[in-house]
Amino acid sequence: MIPNVKSNRIAADHPDGLPPFAVLELRTSLLAWYSQSGRDLPWRQTRDPYAIWVSEIMLQQTQVKTVLPYFDRWMSQFPTVQDLAAADLQQVLKAWEGLGYYARARNFHRAAQVIVQQHGGMFPTELDAVLALPGIGRTTAGGILSAAFNQPLAILDGNVKRVLARLIALDVPPVKALPRLWTLSQELVDPRNGRDFNQAFMDLGATVCTTHNSACSVCPWRGHCQAYNLDIQSQIPMSETRAPIPHKQIGVAVIWNDRGQILIDRRKSDGLLGGLWEFPGGKVEVGETIAACIHREIREELGIEIAVGDRLVVVDHTYSHFRVTLNVHHCQHLSGEPQAIECDEIRWVTLAEFDQFPFPKANLQIIQALRQSDAQSSHPPLK
Ligand code: ADE
Repeated sequence: MIPNVKSNRIAADHPDGLPPFAVLELRTSLLAWYSQSGRDLPWRQTRDPYAIWVSEIMLQQTQVKTVLPYFDRWMSQFPTVQDLAAADLQQVLKAWEGLGYYARARNFHRAAQVIVQQHGGMFPTELDAVLALPGIGRTTAGGILSAAFNQPLAILDGNVKRVLARLIALDVPPVKALPRLWTLSQELVDPRNGRDFNQAFMDLGATVCTTHNSACSVCPWRGHCQAYNLDIQSQIPMSETRAPIPHKQIGVAVIWNDRGQILIDRRKSDGLLGGLWEFPGGKVEVGETIAACIHREIREELGIEIAVGDRLVVVDHTYSHFRVTLNVHHCQHLSGEPQAIECDEIRWVTLAEFDQFPFPKANLQIIQALRQSDAQSSHPPLK
């Protein structure tokens, strides 16, 4: 049980916000902590709004340590917004390969084109104009405009939500208190130093006020933190009770032809993983065997007949709202000309050519398994 936070002094005296002395102390202590303990990250060494934008899009739903190598590669491959706008979407998706949430890359590419065509290649400095760009929500806009132009705009990413929830001992899950948390974040941001304040705020959440085993002893906000004072930091933020995510069994075909090539298809450009390449297949129906599923899916999606052979690999992958198990089998093309019935494009490719195409992460494991089995045996495996 979380004690009644209304009994707390700050909340009772200032039901809609923090008292001014607390705000000043919170700003000062956070900035002092940041100057000693903030992380040295590449996008903090630049004021280039494009580079900062790259980092903010990559950091949506993705951790800093994962983003670091992608950020460097991206800046070498697409150093300016003009380079990104002029690039082919397939090239962009290839550079994003493995980062997940591919709508981010598609939106980013479109937004770069909007900037070049409608803003003369200059990143807008007005919040409304930034929010109008594809893929940029309020926290990303605040993150970019504060880091690039030192604007005192609020942010509210997952880390910041957790810090704020603990600071005020929020007695509901953050998702139920978003307007209040936005107001608090805006109240706190330093009007003269939005840049460092927001970076510090994110670092506090990422390195001190962590989900588990928070390091309260070194926290600059400990003295004002209601969760700490009530010793309930491990219970906050309260979590939403979520229904278990669905789990789908998928039958996947690695279809070989007589020339040692494999058939891959490009997913339709909208929707999950849109524009990425994959091995064809689909969901196993109730009561269906994996082999029957693969036969049916390949007939429906590509209009061809195949023989289903040995299992190559089983890959488990969790997306944000569901989990899949890919049951991957070697198959042999028997008859019919493959048609792009439920996809945008199909190609016969050799194992060596796979690197030219962007694939979702789970499919990269299939390619790896194929390369391992290729090193150990002769192909095609069904012959
Ligand atoms: N997450 C989102 N933006 C970030 C930034 N600028 N630094 C670290 N983590 C972040």
